This record gives sequence, structure tokens and C-alpha cells, in this order.
Amino acid sequence: MSDTRWWQTGVIYQIGVSSFADSDGDGRGDLRGIIERLDYLNDGTDASLGVDAIWLTPVNASPMRDFGYDVSDYYSINPRFGTMRDFEELLAACHSRGMRVMMDLVLNHTSDEHPWFVESRSSRDNPRRDWYVWRDGRSPKKPPNRWKAAVEGSAWEYEATTGQYFYHAFLPFQPDLNWRNHEVRREMFDVAAFWLDKGVDGFRLDLVNFLYEDELLQDNPFRWASRPYLAQLHLHDFSQPESLEAIKELRRLTDGYEDRALMGEVFSDTPVDCVTYLGDGTDALHMSFYLDFVRRRWNAQEYRDSVGWLEDHIPANGWPCYYLNNHDLPRTFGRLGGHKDADAKAKVTAAMLLTLRGTPIIYNGEEIGMPKARVPRRMMDDPLGRKFWPLQVGRDGSRTPMHWSGAANAGFSDREPWLPVDPSHVVRNVERQVESPGSLLDWYRNLIALRRQRAALQAGSYRSLEGMPAGVFGYEREAADDRVATLLNFTGRTIPLPGLGDTLGGLTWSVLLSSHSAVSDLADSPATTLRPYEVLVLGASDPGSTA
Ligand code: NOJ
Repeated sequence: MSDTRWWQTGVIYQIGVSSFADSDGDGRGDLRGIIERLDYLNDGTDASLGVDAIWLTPVNASPMRDFGYDVSDYYSINPRFGTMRDFEELLAACHSRGMRVMMDLVLNHTSDEHPWFVESRSSRDNPRRDWYVWRDGRSPKKPPNRWKAAVEGSAWEYEATTGQYFYHAFLPFQPDLNWRNHEVRREMFDVAAFWLDKGVDGFRLDLVNFLYEDELLQDNPFRWASRPYLAQLHLHDFSQPESLEAIKELRRLTDGYEDRALMGEVFSDTPVDCVTYLGDGTDALHMSFYLDFVRRRWNAQEYRDSVGWLEDHIPANGWPCYYLNNHDLPRTFGRLGGHKDADAKAKVTAAMLLTLRGTPIIYNGEEIGMPKARVPRRMMDDPLGRKFWPLQVGRDGSRTPMHWSGAANAGFSDREPWLPVDPSHVVRNVERQVESPGSLLDWYRNLIALRRQRAALQAGSYRSLEGMPAGVFGYEREAADDRVATLLNFTGRTIPLPGLGDTLGGLTWSVLLSSHSAVSDLADSPATTLRPYEVLVLGASDPGSTA
């Protein structure tokens, strides 16, 4: 335990800044709103949620055409969220209560309103021309190659002023920086150093495997798939070796500061890339998001396989990082087979998230079971929703304001919020759940508190329990003198657990948590059945230990 770091033992809470808490009544969340809600996140007692770190979605200056992932100045704070002083105050307030702050850092692209791009697009001989990826078309009206943007359509945009195309891996207003230009590379590392000097504890890195593209711009081979983007085997547009090298350099820079961490979004069609960006486990990302998890169906075997794959492939020194939701995905609460038994199922996935080996990330609102909200077309903000509606509704449904209470605007703001609040806030909100034993929030709180108490949960090894009945995912975590086992019933049936004592090695186990019983009612005796969707967390101490 002694050499494990905060980013391994802790729980990270993702805050979608626009939707967390509005302090100045403009209908959009802000930094002071977060400061005012810090007690909810961690007041040092088990009455609060108890998370150890927050990750803020981008807070740099931005026209906000993509939730802030379109930065127009990396060295300043978006005035919609507050001032640099507010940011420093938030940082200090978190640090004073032992919490860490991770910033989102968008290294791959800028906003097209960034002064660098405004200069770059102005003429072919502008000194910043080469800061972005400009090329001639293959012929008049034909882009340089057939690469697609991740959101479909060509990845190239034609600029009549200078007669060339620029490259954008994502949306056309997010031109890719040219990382092959040494000034760009140096500048982006300077940006990282600027925020590390300010005291941020690390970064969530957007699209880390997209920094470099193939220098020769070779076309990707074709493959059969449902959408044009997937119909390319992405050999040349992302996950190039140079991107990993750049992340290794960023790691060396970060290691020059005390106790900071890099957590990366590796966006790919294969989980292999997520592991690749951990390097040898000590020289690249500290953590990379495991995308596979959210693609799995509701089934014990699916999750066991998914965890097993990562445990088998991660480098020996690598550290897993799991999440169930984020601002890009439909909220899990609505994805677990509709609303039937949704709370019970959410308790199963929460227990899995918080007791597996690895760092858990909770997305704000997940802990109270916020559902995917319906956002009418006229209120849509997400460019993907606006572009593909009605075929796709975009990501706004996962970005609506936090439900603090059943009051007007869900207690998020005094004014009409930038996105509508979901009607479920009337019954599903923090104020109600915080006082209700047995609520989903209470369950998250209990799991986090338990995680803090047990060395096995923070840093222990992972072993899948063999011979579990169908529908049950069971595993054991073990640290030097501590053992914890988690049993997750993914079914709506009661399942007997014959021979559990043998499976768990004949030690004396007690029930530490059950999703179906109050902590005060827990039996000391080993469990013999799992009730429908029941979670049991069991604990044993090594009889050989003096602890
Ligand atoms: C991934 C971010 O999570 C997403 O919200 C954003 O739109 C893209 N990267 C582009 O930056």
C-alpha cells in the first residue's frame, strides 16, 4: 500500500462544469458553483459522497460549440465559468480538504476561433500556417485523401481563401494541430507546464491517440461496416507511434512535478489501444479509459470477460481505470434495460465500479441515478445532435443540469438553465437521497467509505471466482493482510450459493455490505443465497496476520 498513489486508491468524480451548479444565476454552471458544493463531494465525513478527486470538463476559454472541447485560449479560464482567481480558489479549496483536481486538456485540436488558427488560415505564408495540417486536394474538388472525421463526412475542409484543405479529426470547427511542427509540440507542453505550475494534480487528455496522423497521408484500407467511418481500417489516421512518443514526453514532464497523474481518452475501435497508451506501465499514461466496459450487454459473463481481458492484457505495472458513464454516452441508468429494476441494477454496476481493481470514475448525477433526459430539438446544444437529428439525438441527454432538489430548475440555478432539467428531478434528487438509507446515493457513499477502509479494495490483486452460478459475477481482491470478495447477481432471480466457503478458501467471512440490507442489519454469517440483483461485499482477514 505504501507506494500506491492517490490516483490509484482514490475515486475520481467527473464534473460537467456547465451543468453542475450555477452560482451567478446565468443558467450555466460555474467554478464558484462547484466551490459551494464541495461539502457534498467530500466534507471529511461519511455523510458526504467521499470522492478524492474531481475532473473538470474543459474550463479554458472557448466559444463552447462542443462543451468546451473547442479551446480558443489555453492559458485562460472561460469567463462563462469564472475567472482565473475563481479557478485558483477552487484548487486551494479542494487541496485544503485533501481533494485533487484534474483538468481536461485538449491537445489534438483547437477551436477555429483560436488566434493561432485565425492566423494560420489567413495566408499560405503566415508563420502559423504550419501549426495546422494544410494540404492541396488530390485534384480540384477532391480532398487530399479519403479519411473520414470521427463524426462522419470528410476529415478535410476546403478553404477558398488559400485554396487548400485543413484536417479535422472531429468537427470542422475543431482543426487539428500539426504536432509534427516543433513549435506546436513545444507550445502544448508549455500549456501543460503552465497548469501544473499552477498546482493542478493532473489532466484528462482528450483524444490522446489522435495527435499524429501518417505523414504521407496514406488512405486507410476498406472494410465492410455499418457506417462509413467504421468502413475504414484506421491504420493511418490515428494511433500512430508518434502519438505514444509524445505522451511519453508529456509523462516525463509530469514526473518532474510531485504526485501528478495523466488520464487519457484513447478513442479507438479496439481495447488494445487503451493498453498500448499505458506504455510499460510507468512511462506513458498513468491511466487510460477502458472503453470496452460501456459496450457490454447486461450479463454477468460479459462483464467478467471484459474485466478478464483487461487484467490479462494490461502491463504488469499498469493500472486499470473504469467508468460507466460520461458526458458522451447515454447515461447508464437508462441503458440497463429500461426503467424496470433500474435502481437495483444501478447498485450492481456501482458495486462493480467501486470494488474492482482500478480507479473508478463517477460522472456527476450517476450517483443519484439521473436518467438520460429528453432534450427537444429547439433546445439542443450538442453539434452532433443538431447535425444528425432525428436519426441521432446527440449527447445533450447526458449533460442536463444536476438534480440537487425537487425545486424549480432542480436547485441547479435561479434562472432557466442552458439545457432543460429532466422532470424526474422532482423525485430523484440529492436532497431526497442524501437522507434516505437504501437510496442509490447512500449505496455509492457506503461503497466509497468501505473502499477507503479496506486495503484490499484500494490496492489489492484481482481474482475472478471460478464456479459461480450462472448470472453471478464474483471476484476477490487481496492485499497483504486483507481480503474482500464481491458477488454481483445480474439476474432478477434468487440464486443459491452452495460451497461459497470453499470457493473463498475456507476463511471466516463476514458481510460488509449488502445492497438489500441496512448496514446495521448485516449478518456475520456467510451468505447462502443472493436475492434478485443483490450485491454482497464480504470481508475476511488473513488468519496469519496480526493486524
Ligand atoms: C472527446 C470528448 O469527450 C468529446 O466530448 C468531444 O466532443 C471530442 N473528444 C472532441 O474533442
